[in-house]
Amino acid sequence: MGRIVVFGSNKGGVGKTTTSVNFAVMLVVQYSKSVIILRCDKNPELPEWNEKRVEAGLTQIPLYSAYGKDTYKEINRLSRMCDVLIVDCPGHDSAEFRSALSVADILITLVKPSSDFEKGTLREVTETVRTIQDNGNPKLQPWVLLTRVKPQKVADAIALDNELRSHEVWIQPLKTRLSDLDVYESACNLGAGVHEITRASSLTKAKALLELMAQEIKVI
Ligand SMILES: Nc1ncnc2c1ncn2[C@@H]1O[C@H](COP(=O)(O)OP(=O)(O)OP(=O)(O)O)[C@@H](O)[C@H]1O
Ligand SMILES: [Mg+2]
Repeated sequence: MGRIVVFGSNKGGVGKTTTSVNFAVMLVVQYSKSVIILRCDKNPELPEWNEKRVEAGLTQIPLYSAYGKDTYKEINRLSRMCDVLIVDCPGHDSAEFRSALSVADILITLVKPSSDFEKGTLREVTETVRTIQDNGNPKLQPWVLLTRVKPQKVADAIALDNELRSHEVWIQPLKTRLSDLDVYESACNLGAGVHEITRASSLTKAKALLELMAQEIKVI
């Protein structure tokens, strides 16, 4: 069985899809992993990104879709066909998110530490995760990924990191934080990930942060 990595949140626009695809490309290009992406929302972004990959002649990463409370069945099926299955969830609490968590190995829930709206999602997500761990999926390893961190807002990231570490009931933060870097978005706009771009500002940093994250969650 491949590792099942879920990118999920109770909130939209936190960076799930952008991070999912950049992470997927890194695993394929840098570490020669076989990766499948599972799309669990009906946004056209992932099919459009994939279409651009075909047009650009980039390595194909299989993309599937699944919806509803039985999403876990498709996750189990696909995870037998790859090293890493990346599940991109909708931007709200959903049947897909809960179903995915019931079989996942790893959850990455993303938060911009300077945003109270985004930090506010952590209470509910934590409750959902702890319930699922207690009722059927004790192997689920959840992480908070502090992301879109701007240099002038690092103090907010440190404060949130400390707060989460202060009590073990919280989903714990990854040591690796993703910076707010345009290159993650511009790579997506080309149907690519940062590991397929040759020149851009902060490219080395953008790639290194994803690699550190992969090491930390032990998928490489
Ligand atoms: N590390 C980052 N640095 C800079 N911009 C980022 C980063 N991650 C995501 N973004 C930007 O944040 C916005 C939201 O990203 P994205 O669409 O990936 O979020 P999402 O959580 O998948 O949203 P939804 O819930 O609607 O599916 C996009 O404009 C994206 O380019
Ligand atoms: Mg998305």
